[in-house]
Amino acid sequence: MYSTFDQSVYQQELSTQWLGHSFSYFEELESTNSHVKNISAEEVTHGMVCLADDQIKGRGQYERNWESESGENLTFSLVFRPQTTDRFHVLTLACALAIVDYIDELLPNSNVCIKWPNDVMIDQKKVAGLLTETMFSGNTLDRLIIGIGLNVNQKAFSSEVSGKATSIAIEKGQTVERENLLSELLSRIEYNYNLWQRRRQDLLKSINRNIIGYGQWIELIVNGQLLEDTFKMLGINKAGQLVVLGEDGELKSFSYEQIRLVTD
Ligand code: BTN
Repeated sequence: MYSTFDQSVYQQELSTQWLGHSFSYFEELESTNSHVKNISAEEVTHGMVCLADDQIKGRGQYERNWESESGENLTFSLVFRPQTTDRFHVLTLACALAIVDYIDELLPNSNVCIKWPNDVMIDQKKVAGLLTETMFSGNTLDRLIIGIGLNVNQKAFSSEVSGKATSIAIEKGQTVERENLLSELLSRIEYNYNLWQRRRQDLLKSINRNIIGYGQWIELIVNGQLLEDTFKMLGINKAGQLVVLGEDGELKSFSYEQIRLVTD
């Protein structure tokens, strides 16, 4: 059932220092990521959040569409203007970790984890996806956009993703207030952002502990090709690359564009 996102409830519940204080809401938009990409540099502030109840052209990874029923879920973009121009992928994973931690609290017995590179899964079904985009002005980073699609109250999915997708409501057996969920989530994301900025090692440890396949022997698809060997997944390093140990005893690291994991 469609329900409009209530901005005043969100504002009342928000307890962050800076994230989400600047908030734009749209009932309908092509894509929140595209929207914040298109606004002028003067209008962009660090920590702004753009949310739409309905995206007509919601975008996912690998040029896919992002499917989300109007008014049921959270589809939003975060805009950051960090000083550094590196380690973006760690920040995306830090946001994914915030989602994992929050779901873990809401659903204590659920098996929730991060799937490399940008998904959050509950019992091997996707509950959230993240899409990170950067905009540079010359060599200077103008904005870093992290788009998040989190399935909250949607109960049924199209045949294309049915069986592979889930929502918090499906797992919990009851609907959840989106406004409260977003404000809680933003607090956790802000906390993880601060850890990321301070280059805290414990952030990497927590990400690694929550990634599917960590410490296991896995198969890898590199640049679209399944490799014959298996690799022991050692986790992500501080640059956000995935580090694996080969059967030959050699360490290898991959950027997130290069590989996909076969974990099941
Ligand atoms: C994925 O493929 O898993 C990433 C999905 C990202 C979807 C979100 S919804 C809000 C933001 N706007 C978009 O167009 N995409 C992202």
